[in-house]
Amino acid sequence: MSLHVAHHLLACPHCGRELVPLEQRWACDAGHSFDVARQGYLNLANGPEPANADTTAMLDARARVQAAGLFDFLSRGLDGAVPYTGVQTVLEVGAGTGHYLAQLIEARPPARGLALDVSRAAARRAAKAYHRVASVVADVWRGLPVREASIDVLLCIFAPRNPVEFARVLRPGGRAIVVTPAAAHLAELRQRYGLLGIEDDKRERLLERMAPHLVHEHTTTLKQTGTLSAEVLDDLIRMGPNAHHDPPRPTAPEEVRLAIDLTVFRAPPGSRAAKP
Ligand SMILES: C[S@@+](CC[C@H](N)C(=O)[O-])C[C@H]1O[C@@H](n2cnc3c(N)ncnc32)[C@H](O)[C@@H]1O
Repeated sequence: MSLHVAHHLLACPHCGRELVPLEQRWACDAGHSFDVARQGYLNLANGPEPANADTTAMLDARARVQAAGLFDFLSRGLDGAVPYTGVQTVLEVGAGTGHYLAQLIEARPPARGLALDVSRAAARRAAKAYHRVASVVADVWRGLPVREASIDVLLCIFAPRNPVEFARVLRPGGRAIVVTPAAAHLAELRQRYGLLGIEDDKRERLLERMAPHLVHEHTTTLKQTGTLSAEVLDDLIRMGPNAHHDPPRPTAPEEVRLAIDLTVFRAPPGSRAAKP
């Protein structure tokens, strides 16, 4: 069980006070208490799971795609963007399987990771991702149950963004790394199978939304092409929100183009006073 690595990082979703671990539950000193699930994660969500939470089938598909190495180029990009020294705490919001977070934490001992996702199925997986990664269920839109100025690096990879909360939980000078699909990402595949589109101005809108809260440092576009089997193509389509629309299944291998924007933001120095 890896939940203990979240000590001094979690805040009560009801009152914001620090949550401390007790036997099989975490509680704040106002008396709010949350049970640790049998599978090792902590559920701090205040409401029901929303419709866009990842399902077990989507997570299985994503785990197979990640295991096949298709997104290793993204892992390398993330590795290059996160320093090896001075990073003690990494939070991933919308962490899914916890794949990228676990890789970064494993390579940076004694750093600890916090995987946050609104899906309980995702939290179950992330709880097993790595022993220095803790897993929590929470909704990014309802505020992060994380202490102010406690996070060195925040990752948001193909997941919802809450810039106000990102700025609140980052320590001054901490980095947010946001990964989004570039316009060319899976363009042919999206056209052929009628998959969800990507807005032409996605990059500009991201910068606009983050600008009042975090400083844009740089954006890098990572690219990869490859010929994939029909099975991997099917997983690639069904590991994300397209799964909710039941698109046709590929029957033959095809070449795909992946193009991903990795954008780094910095929390301004002195923007938040770190709590003791
Ligand atoms: C496309 S997946 C990406 C998962 C992971 N970052 C990756 O790249 O492998 C998006 C994730 O965001 C989660 N998610 C969706 N809405 C959320 C919300 N409001 N709060 C927290 N997580 C959310 C989903 O459950 C899903 O695991």
